[in-house]
Amino acid sequence: MKFFVDSADLEAISELADIGLVDGVTTNPSIIAKSGRNFKDVIKEICALTPGHVSAEVVATQAEQMIEEGRHLRKIAENVCVKLPLTLDGLKACSTLSREGTPTNVTLCFSANQALLAAKCGASYISPFIGRLDDIALDGLELIEDIRTIYDNYGFETEILAASIRNVNHVKDCALVGADVMTAPPAVIKSLASHVLTDKGLAAFLKDWENTGQTIL
Ligand code: E4P
Repeated sequence: MKFFVDSADLEAISELADIGLVDGVTTNPSIIAKSGRNFKDVIKEICALTPGHVSAEVVATQAEQMIEEGRHLRKIAENVCVKLPLTLDGLKACSTLSREGTPTNVTLCFSANQALLAAKCGASYISPFIGRLDDIALDGLELIEDIRTIYDNYGFETEILAASIRNVNHVKDCALVGADVMTAPPAVIKSLASHVLTDKGLAAFLKDWENTGQTIL
């Protein structure tokens, strides 16, 4: 499973990239607003941190303007992936941009039928938001499973990008049902490494080692 970082925090992305945990990055207008930075500047800087796809989202709501915005965003860097909302206009823009060879990420997906449409329009990625479904007591994971089945039934190449990941269990569950990619905030990705028994075991090993009085180097 590929790991994307759902953030515009350059320091956090860099830290995870140095560990080897960044296959790409996703942003959305809320994340950009939170960064307080200029949209195009921050996307350009993120694109320099990873060779993977960096999703930059259009804000127009009509297909023609979405296409123009997408073409403009694509000029920022080779690895920009144009993010489009799952509306009929977004799908139309997705078809056009995909035909032009631009990577596309269709976002705000909350149903398997929406994911089917995105695949038919040539999306590179579909982003089902599992946390937001869980927030309203629906089953986000079931949506990922349904999309996996549908895409496999017909050999669609659109990658399932599990989004709105809120905790470590979401990551494990998405991996178990075969999501191609997951995108999560840096804190969630870092917390995947934590286990109380790892901390306890390491402390015991280091204490016993200290008692030997030896050094390795
Ligand atoms: C993904 O592309 C979205 O930016 C993100 O995962 C949304 O997450 P949220 O529901 O926690 O805002």
